Amino acid sequence: MLGAGGLVAFPTETVYGLGADATRDDGVERIFRVKRRPLRHPLIAHFASLAMMRDWVELPPMAVELGERFWPGPLTCVVRRSARLSPLVSGGLDTLAVRVPGHPLARALIAAFGSPLAAPSANRFGRVSPTSAEHVRTDLGSDVDFVLDGGACEVGVESTIVDCLSEPGRLLRRGSVTLDELCAATTRAIEDASDTASGAPGTLPAHYAPEARLVLVERDQFAEAVARIAAQGARVGALLPPGRPRPAQAVHVIELESDPILLARNLYRSLRELDAHCDVIVASLPPEVGVGAAVADRLRRAAAASH
Ligand code: TXA
Ligand code: MG
Repeated sequence: MLGAGGLVAFPTETVYGLGADATRDDGVERIFRVKRRPLRHPLIAHFASLAMMRDWVELPPMAVELGERFWPGPLTCVVRRSARLSPLVSGGLDTLAVRVPGHPLARALIAAFGSPLAAPSANRFGRVSPTSAEHVRTDLGSDVDFVLDGGACEVGVESTIVDCLSEPGRLLRRGSVTLDELCAATTRAIEDASDTASGAPGTLPAHYAPEARLVLVERDQFAEAVARIAAQGARVGALLPPGRPRPAQAVHVIELESDPILLARNLYRSLRELDAHCDVIVASLPPEVGVGAAVADRLRRAAAASH
């Protein structure tokens, strides 16, 4: 199926990916068509192991250091493009994003296929990423040839992306591997570029937005904000910070976890659930500890896309 340019959605530890043979223009092009994603938004090439990756692409020293520490796992490195992969994967750039996913089904699939899989998150462009096989089927329906069901994703937010070609290296997208952890794993310097407009191409605010309008408020103003927006006639959903009283005017309430790992794991499922019931979602930023920083990043982008 993959060898004929087909599309297979597969689980990773972060979110589900929509995979095609990374060496075939036709398969990779279909990813863009099915996702309705602009061709200049580059994809990530997924490998079964660091050893397999080194057979296919040349890695700069920083990618080797980081890869040895974090792969298989939720890290993506930007390296130089390889002529063996379809140029479409790189979206017109001369660089390539690569990773070894941590989910055993993903690695087994890639190892059995024998070539890297190009894969973005398996959602339509502009929707929140899928963290279950059911999310993929809901978003993509019959446009995907096969959905490999590996259960709910453990991490729940997309991988950390690091540009390993620049000096210093640059953190382009926050994920569950934090800047501190990255810096501890390499002798080279890495700076945080995840907040700036010069971050990863394609990390637009709208990438992480639910369909409902997302409004960020301070924790201690949560109940008032819900009451005010509900009074305007909107169906308000609440992503309630842990320990806060349930706002009476909300039509749907999901109480957030205080453990950042559980918070990240459940984030996109919660946004999808609220989307089904509400016009407006009220949320507060979690403490930016560990993967909490990635959750805060996605919520900020979702709120910025909501205007
Ligand atoms: O966790 C993940 O990374 C998931 C799973 C499926 O692996 N994939 C994912 O893919 O989030 P996607 O397409 O939704 O996001 C990939 C992002 C692009 O939006 C872009 O920001 C960045 O990776 N990217 C890809 N190639 C790049 C390059 N050559 N230089 C800089 N950034 C790149
Ligand atoms: Mg995506």
